[in-house]
Amino acid sequence: MSELLRRYLQTRRSLEEPPIELPGRTRAEVVRAIRRLDRAVERGGRADDVTRSDEEAGAEGGEVTDLERLSREGTAQEIEALPDLDSLREVAESCVRCPLHEERSSVVFGEGSRTARLVCVGEAPGAEEDRTGRPFVGRAGKLLDRLLLSAGFRREEVFICNVLKCRPPGNRDPEPGEIDRCSPYLLRQIELIDPAVILAFGSFASRTLLDVRDSIRSMRQQEHEFRGYPLAVTYHPAALLRNPNWTRPTWEDLQKVRRMVDDARDRKPESTNG
Ligand code: URA
Repeated sequence: MSELLRRYLQTRRSLEEPPIELPGRTRAEVVRAIRRLDRAVERGGRADDVTRSDEEAGAEGGEVTDLERLSREGTAQEIEALPDLDSLREVAESCVRCPLHEERSSVVFGEGSRTARLVCVGEAPGAEEDRTGRPFVGRAGKLLDRLLLSAGFRREEVFICNVLKCRPPGNRDPEPGEIDRCSPYLLRQIELIDPAVILAFGSFASRTLLDVRDSIRSMRQQEHEFRGYPLAVTYHPAALLRNPNWTRPTWEDLQKVRRMVDDARDRKPESTNG
């Protein structure tokens, strides 16, 4: 249900429909109601179970309240201990742990297959991503889709996300404090998806994951690992739009990533993550 609702809200945003106002209800209350609805439907109940008594709702309050607390003041360790992608998304979508929440329209958590063999990591949402709540949907995103396809990856079979989940105002570079606050979401996303390969686009993603300061040019020529996952580095699609000479090397990097994913498939059984 929350997945359906999320898609509905994303569609509304992409059609530039006005936000839905629920007078007298906080965002947390609405999220809580949707979770109750999810549980009611999972139990085979009816959608209007969501209006059941306050006592019953209160009995479930502990878990939700804890997720709300994590959104406000969770530590990196607490966020990295979240048990599944849904709770991680829920915490991220209400996150106020850094000032970027003040100007965002959407939290861009990431999208794609939960059992992806390839996780693609970019820098941060831009204007179009902030508006729609989806990663890489602007011009750079269209190019990303074509690059992925050139190596035989459909967008929906990989997982696409960013180091930062909220847009830095005016698309400025992410600041170290913001990367620090936001990266636990990315680290946990990677662990929960458990891909065969990670592909970092651009210097922010590469440097954050590898904790180095090297140039893209030198990083893309090396083999890397992040927490045991093979990691490849390539140019950011937005950089390619500015410098088309990098298209050929990026295409070559994608072909290498294809081989890495295929080789890993031969070694590692398919993930069973739901
Ligand atoms: N650039 C990024 O790094 N991420 C996006 O989602 C869009 C543009």
